[in-house]
Amino acid sequence: MKALVLSGGEGTRLRPFTYSMAKQLVPVANKPVLVHCLENLRNIGVKETGIVVGGHGAQIEEAIGDGSRFGMRITYLRQEAPLGLAHCVTLAAEFLGDDEFVMYLGDNILAEGIADAAAEFRRRRPAAQLLVTKVADPRQYGVAEVDADGVVRALVEKPTEPRGDLAVIGAYFFTSAVHEATRAIRPSARGELEITDALQYLIEGGWAVTAQEYDGYWKDTGKIDDLLECNRVLLERLGTDGAGTADPMAAGEIDATTVVEGRVVVEPGARVTGSHLTGPVVIGAGSVVRDCRIGPNVAVGRDCVLESAGIENSIVLEGASITDVPELSGCVIGRWARVSAQDGGSHNRLIIGDHTQAEVPV
Ligand code: DAU
Repeated sequence: MKALVLSGGEGTRLRPFTYSMAKQLVPVANKPVLVHCLENLRNIGVKETGIVVGGHGAQIEEAIGDGSRFGMRITYLRQEAPLGLAHCVTLAAEFLGDDEFVMYLGDNILAEGIADAAAEFRRRRPAAQLLVTKVADPRQYGVAEVDADGVVRALVEKPTEPRGDLAVIGAYFFTSAVHEATRAIRPSARGELEITDALQYLIEGGWAVTAQEYDGYWKDTGKIDDLLECNRVLLERLGTDGAGTADPMAAGEIDATTVVEGRVVVEPGARVTGSHLTGPVVIGAGSVVRDCRIGPNVAVGRDCVLESAGIENSIVLEGASITDVPELSGCVIGRWARVSAQDGGSHNRLIIGDHTQAEVPV
């Protein structure tokens, strides 16, 4: 089975980060979302993957490489504009040939992998198989109407009045029948070739389209709050043996005056002194942490400097520094950003970029 990973798109809901980086490269528990995705594909034995990339393509290629570290060969497929999920399939038609494939949304986390879904697809052999899950607000998603045998009766993209609460989530299994559908459909009202329309075409043409309910943790990381929630959930699983047993790891350096509680990972070359770490926490390679209170639910990327800082429930990206700021919570701090206290100052001074968000206490 081949894989088609969708890593284009604009990521407007993740601005300002997506001005300078692809949303699929934003780290969750210190690993880009796209890496979580490729690991799931490796685990179902995929050897041949096409990654659809847009404006940040070169950066994705540099971060992911030729695929050898995932035991697969990766081909990059350039999409000039985000014209829809089904458009991605049309531009990959030559790469995919007549093979069956799994289409994976590069901004989705499926924490328990997709092995059960792949096995079910192989066993049942429908023209297409979706993964669905119950959501509180289906209007933000593709919504599937599924009967008791798991057969999909109808699909609508982001309906204003949803019929049901089953959202279509990030891994779709297809046979080559989908190519006829993606060639036949026309752009939707929002100007995209919708994969839901291609699936609806298959249903109306009498092809078998099935759905399996995903019973693991799933998240579309397209928004800041979802990103933070996902970070917390994946951090909770850090350094466990898979059965949930804590196995604290410290490849980096933690001095004797530092208190460590819960699951804490200090990556190689990182140094922690005089601090209080409340897991789950991960401190990235080469980072320096001095006199801080960190955690719970904090992922600090590589080469960061945190001094006399306090932070919980947050993601700090590569190279950022935080100095003398005690009570940070729910933050995403971009690469090489600096957060510090003003010496003797009485004002809040903010130098922040377009579409940035800052909340200060009143
Ligand atoms: O997260 C699940 C939802 O994903 C489904 O329920 C919807 O049916 C499906 O349309 C999709 O909705 P989103 O609005 O979240 O899609 P988004 O634009 O975020 O695109 C999903 C991924 O595909 C993301 O990694 C960007 C990439 N993409 C998207 C478009 C539109 C491309 O590579 N090219 C594109 O043209």
